[in-house]
Amino acid sequence: MYQALYRKWRPKSFSDVYGQPHVTKTLQSQLESGRISHAYLFTGSRGTGKTTCAKILSKAVNCLNPVDGNPCNECEICKGIENGSILDVIEIDAASNNGVDNIRDLREEANFTPVNAKYRFYIIDEVHMLSIGAFNALLKTLEEPPSHVIFILATTEIHKLPATILSRCQRFDFKRISPEDITARLVYVAEKENVTLTENAAALIARIADGGMRDALSLLDRCFAMGNYIDEDAVSAAAGIAGTVHLFSFSEFVAKGDFTSALKLVSRLHNESCDIDSLCTELTLHFRNLMVAKTVKDCDGLIVCSKDELEKIKSRANELKLSKILGCIEILEKAAANIKNAVNKKIQLEAAVIKMCSPVSAGSANEELEERIAFLESKINLLASGKTVQTPKETAPAVYTPVAPAEETKAPVKSEPEIQEEKTEPEKTQEKLPEPQTPSASVIDDGPFYNWSDVLEALKKYDIPLFGILAGSSAVIKNGRVIINSENPTLFDFICADTHSRELARAIYDVLGQKMKIAVSNTEKVKTETNPLDNLKNKIGNFNNN
Ligand SMILES: Nc1ncnc2c1ncn2[C@@H]1O[C@H](COP(=O)(O)OP(=O)(O)OP(=O)(O)O)[C@@H](O)[C@H]1O
Ligand SMILES: [Mg+2]
Ligand SMILES: [Zn+2]
Repeated sequence: MYQALYRKWRPKSFSDVYGQPHVTKTLQSQLESGRISHAYLFTGSRGTGKTTCAKILSKAVNCLNPVDGNPCNECEICKGIENGSILDVIEIDAASNNGVDNIRDLREEANFTPVNAKYRFYIIDEVHMLSIGAFNALLKTLEEPPSHVIFILATTEIHKLPATILSRCQRFDFKRISPEDITARLVYVAEKENVTLTENAAALIARIADGGMRDALSLLDRCFAMGNYIDEDAVSAAAGIAGTVHLFSFSEFVAKGDFTSALKLVSRLHNESCDIDSLCTELTLHFRNLMVAKTVKDCDGLIVCSKDELEKIKSRANELKLSKILGCIEILEKAAANIKNAVNKKIQLEAAVIKMCSPVSAGSANEELEERIAFLESKINLLASGKTVQTPKETAPAVYTPVAPAEETKAPVKSEPEIQEEKTEPEKTQEKLPEPQTPSASVIDDGPFYNWSDVLEALKKYDIPLFGILAGSSAVIKNGRVIINSENPTLFDFICADTHSRELARAIYDVLGQKMKIAVSNTEKVKTETNPLDNLKNKIGNFNNN
C-alpha cells in the first residue's frame, strides 16, 4: 500500500527533526541527565513536528540503548513502539475524546503499571478541544501523575488552554520551519526517493508551505505523481498556482500599463484551471517581494527564491515606482477579501488587474501632489525674485479638452488643473473655466445629459475597462462641458490617461456630433480643492496681479 510521503519520512530521532533545535537539544540534554518532566506541552503551528517529537521522546525515554538522548530505533522497545505492538504509548485525539468520562477512564488506566516499557506515555493531541469538565478531571492527574506516567499535550491553539493546565506543564514552542530547512528536507527526501527536484522547485514548495513541513511533503507527493523530474512548472501545476513566469509577466504589464495583455493572461490562466484565490495570493507575494527589493539593499534573506529569480525581482523593482508597488499591494489585498465572497472570482481579479495597470493607481496620487507642490513652491520663489516663469505642462489635470475624433492622433490638450464640482457657484466656475477650444458655438443646452447611456453604449466599442468603470454614472452638460457624476473613486485616475479620455471624447462625439470638454465630479479628488495647493495657487495669483 502506498504510504504518504510525510508519514513515510516522519523523523525517527531528534537529529532528523529540522528547524526546532531549541526543542530537540533541550529534550536530548534532559534525557542524558535523566531530568525528565512528567508533563510536557508542545505548541506551535500545524505540521512543525509536535506529534513527531512526542513519539521520539516516548521512544528515547524507554529505549534500552539510547545514544546522546536519541532512541536507538533498533531495540525491541523502539521497534515495538514504532510498529504499535507495545501498547504503553497511547495517542489520544482530544477532538473526538473530549468528555469528562474519557479523562476518567484515562485516570483509572494510568494507575496500572506499564506492560513492556518503563514509562507509559499519554500523548493528547489537539488538547484544546477538551471540555471544561475534562480539563478539570485532568488537572489532579497532571499535577501528580503515577511515577510511571508521562503526559505530552499537543495543541495548535495554546490560547484556548486554561491557565491551570499551562502552569502544570513544561512548555515547548514549535516554530514555523524556515524555507531553507524545508528546502533541505525536500531535497533529502527527493534524493532518497530517486526523484530529481530542482533548486527552484524546492524553494517554490517551501514558499507555498509557509513553514509547515507536512504541507511541504504533501505537495512534493502530488508533484511525484507528475513524473521523476520536478521543476517549477511541475510544482505550479501540482499546486494549482500561476508559476513565477506568469507573475513576472503580470508585473511587466503593470509597469507598461498594458491591461489588455494582463486581462488576457488572467483569462488564459483561468481557462487552464488556475485557482483565482491562489493567483491573487501569489501576485500579492510577488509585489511584496518587489517592495522588499525596492526598499532593502541587502534583501537576500528576506525573499525566498533562487538566485536567478532574485536578480529578476531586483530588475523589475527598478522599473516600478515604490508608490506604484504599494498601490498594487493595497489593490490586491482588497481584491483578496472581495474574491472570498464573490460569485464570480475572475471578475474581481480582472477589476484589480485593471486598477493595477491604470497609469495613476492608489499611492501615486500623493507623489503627484508632492511634485505639484514642489513646482508651485519653486514658481513662488522665482516670482518673488522678479524672474519670469514659464508654465510647464501640468501633471494632474482634471478637466480635459479632448480632441475631436478626426484629429485623434494628437493628444488631448489638458487645461487648468482643477476639479469642478457640479455644485460650484456659477460665477466662480466661469472665472476658473478655460475658454472652450471648440470652434463651433455650443448648440447644446445646459442640463442633464439625457443620452448618456448612448455614450456608454458607444464607449463599449472603444474602451471596455472605462465602460465598466462608468457603470452607474450619470452626466450633466454645463457651460459646454460634460460633467460626469460617478461614485467610482478610480474614475478620476482612469480618465487622467490620454487613451481613456480620448476614447470617451470619441463616444461623446458619436452621440452629440460635437466635441466637448470633460470634467469629473463627486470623486474623492474633489477634496483636493481644499488642500494647501489652492493656497499656493492663490498666492501665485496675487503675485501675478501685483
Ligand atoms: N521539524 C520537522 N522536521 C522534519 N519533518 C517534519 C518536521 N515537522 C513535521 N515534519 C513532517 O510532517 C509530518 C507531520 O508532522 P507532525 O505530525 O509532527 O506535525 P504536528 O506539529 O503534530 O502537526 P499538527 O498540529 O497538524 O498535529 C511528519 O510526519 C514529518 O514528515
Ligand atoms: Mg500532531
Ligand atoms: Zn531503542
